[in-house]
Amino acid sequence: MLPGDLSEVLAIERQVFDTPWTIDFFLSCVRDGSRCRLLEVDGKPGGYCILHQVRDRAEIYTLAVSPPLQGHGFGRLLLRDAISGARDGAASSVVLEVRPGNTRAVNLYESEGFTDLSRIADYFENSDGTTEDARVMSRRP
Ligand SMILES: CC(C)(COP(=O)(O)OP(=O)(O)OC[C@H]1O[C@@H](n2cnc3c(N)ncnc32)[C@H](O)[C@@H]1OP(=O)(O)O)[C@@H](O)C(=O)NCCC(=O)NCCS
Repeated sequence: MLPGDLSEVLAIERQVFDTPWTIDFFLSCVRDGSRCRLLEVDGKPGGYCILHQVRDRAEIYTLAVSPPLQGHGFGRLLLRDAISGARDGAASSVVLEVRPGNTRAVNLYESEGFTDLSRIADYFENSDGTTEDARVMSRRP
């Protein structure tokens, strides 16, 4: 993912998340050395995953696949790529936060060996002002 990709990344981000990240957040990830991977399908951006590592703890900041491309294995591909990046970086754990009601994502993470580490109350803020807990999940890379 390069700065020039961000308008297309943001277009996907706005389709899949209720409270999308801003361009500044993506830019800071691209510039701070996070592993920012863009999936291209037929030459067009179709998804992305950002992995941020501090010392031996790697965190998946975001993972998304464009709606028309969902359900074809691209999310798993991006997730496995991030896990392998954490392995390459000698991380001892990969962690992520997910909404308990996000069945697709939870199924994907559980099927890739992520288990519950903790739960954070009212972690996610929705656009309607409500909040949702986060399941914090982790695995060894
Ligand atoms: C979550 C997401 C990244 C998964 O990517 P994807 O490309 O759709 O998923 P894949 O095709 O790789 O499927 C991987 C697994 O996810 C689960 N899954 C996929 N679609 C599903 C559905 N409709 N219902 C339930 N589980 C589903 C399954 O466990 C699937 O494995 P299987 O095909 O062996 O059964 C994608 O749906 C997405 O971008 N969602 C919106 C953004 C989001 O919620 N990101 C995660 C934030 S924590």
